[in-house]
Amino acid sequence: MKIAVLPGDGIGVEIVAEAVKVLNALDCRFEMETALVGGVAYEAIGHPLPESTLKLAQEADAVLFGAVGDWKYDTLERALRPEQAILGLRKNLGLFANFRPALCFDALVGASSLKPDLIAGLDIVIIRELTGDVYFGKPRGRRTAIDGHFVGSEEAYDTMRYSRPEIERIAHLAFGAAQKRKAAGSMGRVTSVDKANVLETSQLWRDVVAEVGTHYPDIMLDHLYVDNAAMQLVRQPKQFDVIVTGNLFGDILSDEASMLTGSIGMLPSASINAQGQGLFEPSHGSAPDLAGKGIANPLATILSAAMMLRFSLNQPEAAQRIEVAVKKVLAQGLRTADIYSAGTTCVSTVEMGTAVVKCL
Ligand code: IPM
Ligand code: MG
Repeated sequence: MKIAVLPGDGIGVEIVAEAVKVLNALDCRFEMETALVGGVAYEAIGHPLPESTLKLAQEADAVLFGAVGDWKYDTLERALRPEQAILGLRKNLGLFANFRPALCFDALVGASSLKPDLIAGLDIVIIRELTGDVYFGKPRGRRTAIDGHFVGSEEAYDTMRYSRPEIERIAHLAFGAAQKRKAAGSMGRVTSVDKANVLETSQLWRDVVAEVGTHYPDIMLDHLYVDNAAMQLVRQPKQFDVIVTGNLFGDILSDEASMLTGSIGMLPSASINAQGQGLFEPSHGSAPDLAGKGIANPLATILSAAMMLRFSLNQPEAAQRIEVAVKKVLAQGLRTADIYSAGTTCVSTVEMGTAVVKCL
């Protein structure tokens, strides 16, 4: 089995190194090949997603991804910005389904900004459509840097679009996930999030999800407007089970959901295509302000590696071993700075990775 390892920018390098360390400590055999992506690839090769990196990702069974982006590239034309690397990978590999679980670890109940009883035992998943929506619609309006000053157009727009088949496939996946979770004790509920009171794209989304829902009579379906969903997520997060939504709303709501659990540094994600091939990355970004300090939390990436073992590499036992090891490390009181609280032990990125390896 071949894993393409793409650490990227900022803290990406440090956190991916810890996930690789954990993978190497398993008794599974992987071939891992590392390549440049994002700002570092732009600097070295002149493009954030070099052809060789894309080819490696396409040929691998799975991609382990860190993060991309740095403010220092804000003045580059959009096509060369680091973010284009992850968008290009998603589009080229057809990774249309993004799973972002928000799971509250018992040891971290106190780390959330919400009251403990609101989030204790929280276990929800946001399924975000990842290759459509305004992210990949037709944009218009450019700004160009001339002598260090921006000259922009007077008008700009992006096009939000979805087609029926794009909505159908993500809806089927969400209902399927709800069925699996129901078999394991969840409530069997899909909440579809849109803005159908204003947007045509959302009306189509709502109609198609409702239609697909009729094939899953064992699963409850409800629809929420995105503003209400954002509010409900902090009011009473445990009312949710599976949330399915489009690319832009999913981007925003998954950041919000991640913070319910205490830190965005804890949350993994999986992006899957129709063949089951996937890209696995922490839900958080490259955090350039934290880079090189050894304080980033590697657990989101380590848990992403576990998702990779489960979703793409058919190694569910190994995945579970990693998840159990992470729980043990937290139970021992080890914390990186983002989840630190009085009475626990603050450790570095590397120490956290080493502790997980020890528990394995
Ligand atoms: C994410 C990120 C990306 C996105 C950025 C880096 C393009 O925020 O994965 O959530 O908007 O999808
Ligand atoms: Mg995001």
